[in-house]
Amino acid sequence: MLVSSLGIVATVSADYGDALSKCILFFEGQRSGYLPRGQRMTWRKNSGLKDGSDIGMDLTGGYYDAGDNVKFTFPMAFTVTNLAWSVIEFGQFMGSEKQNALQAILFGTDFLLKATDVSERIVAQVGDGFSDHNCWERPEDMDTLRTSYVVNASVPGSDLAAEIAAALASASMAFQSADAKYSKTLLERAIEVFDFADKYRKSYNGAMKRGDSCPFYCSLNGYMDELVWGAAWLYRATKSQKYWDFVQKNINDILYLGPSYGWDAKQGGVYVLFSQFVMNNAGSNPFVTQADNLVCSLLPNSPTQYLKYTPGGLLTQTGQNLQLSAASSLLILIYAQYLKSFNRQVHCGNVVADASKLIQIAKGQADYILGKNPLGMSYMVGYGNKFPQRIHHRASSLPSIKDHPQQIKCKEGTPWYQSKKPNPNLLTGALPGGPINSDNFSDDRGNAPESEPTTYLNAFFVGVLAYFKGNPN
Ligand SMILES: *[C@@H]1O[C@H](CO)[C@@H](O)[C@H](O)[C@H]1NC(C)=O
Ligand SMILES: *[C@@H]1O[C@H](CO)[C@@H](O)[C@H](O)[C@H]1NC(C)=O
Repeated sequence: MLVSSLGIVATVSADYGDALSKCILFFEGQRSGYLPRGQRMTWRKNSGLKDGSDIGMDLTGGYYDAGDNVKFTFPMAFTVTNLAWSVIEFGQFMGSEKQNALQAILFGTDFLLKATDVSERIVAQVGDGFSDHNCWERPEDMDTLRTSYVVNASVPGSDLAAEIAAALASASMAFQSADAKYSKTLLERAIEVFDFADKYRKSYNGAMKRGDSCPFYCSLNGYMDELVWGAAWLYRATKSQKYWDFVQKNINDILYLGPSYGWDAKQGGVYVLFSQFVMNNAGSNPFVTQADNLVCSLLPNSPTQYLKYTPGGLLTQTGQNLQLSAASSLLILIYAQYLKSFNRQVHCGNVVADASKLIQIAKGQADYILGKNPLGMSYMVGYGNKFPQRIHHRASSLPSIKDHPQQIKCKEGTPWYQSKKPNPNLLTGALPGGPINSDNFSDDRGNAPESEPTTYLNAFFVGVLAYFKGNPN
């Protein structure tokens, strides 16, 4: 912020290009396995090199989901889907960052190919969530259980498999011009994995159950949203009638929870994605209707608005506000492009929103996240002058093995966890859970809901930033 001699605060407009570069760079900090040549986040080193050995497979690679060191395939696939969707819709605005975005997708799809390498068997998770969360350890030091969990024909997982199908199908489109051969491999695998998802219909929760509950990334709203989402992406990638029919036949069987969008609920994404094929047609219901509802749920002054904003202007729900903000912004930006191409507007009772209104709302969210907020801080690590210093992230908060080569065992990391000092390693681009409903932010490592970054949150924001990099005004 600049304060002029008259005392008027003038905000410098955000540098969306810089933020986009950082938002993509973040994924290098989440990498597991062998770090490739060209790794730019150099304080991270190889880790998890024996992953998969317990079941005789090579399961090295992929991403740690958040501030811990477990590889959860379900949210990893969703992360890839959103990165790919961002490249498909807004890759033309990314400039030289498109290459980095493709690399971020590739690191995920290479793992998804390994996880689905055996027919009718899919790796759902590598690493034990309880063992991992009991320690505060660098990925490079891990001595926690690296158990591999699988689903198969007798213990299936339609939600997991169908989300992987969505990821591979969307990634095949993102790679179409850059690497046609890889694109074809991804699409073929997407088709196979979708068939498995459809053939044995069951939620993967059963396979992940420990004791009485399914503790991490359970698919609470059923598997039908993922099945339809996977089919919708396969339709977009193949244009095959079979997938069109699947979507039409099953869309109304999704457990209805409103047009929400996140790692569990995919229906908001289905409505927006499919609306481009049916807008202004007889078949527009429920896709366009529900995508409109999504808009009306967050449009200020809409009679059906039910999502709220903080006094400073951030979309809110209970906790993890940035996830809602970034996910909604990505969807309405994509929907705005479809509305524009059909010259259509959204009617929320007597309040009308056109594409430019949706873009304005999304820009408000992006600007808030990048610093235009009551605390005057950016919520992206390494962006701007003031940003979160104590994110809940093991690798970032412990010294790099470059500076501290001795192993730091499970509980030996506790003093770093409890320290009030800033994290020693900059996880550039990381977006934490974000501020609470009063716009306050504790910047406290112990407060995971506010301070933990996640791969899917960054994936949503990649598309948002790409759009504004190309369309800053
Ligand atoms: C599926 O996995 C379970 C648990 O690992 C195993 O007991 C079962 O035999 C497997 N089924 C098939 C068809 O491979
Ligand atoms: C905001 O959060 C900080 C850090 O947790 C705390 O010290 C401060 O009292 C909070 N302010 C308000 C108005 O709640």
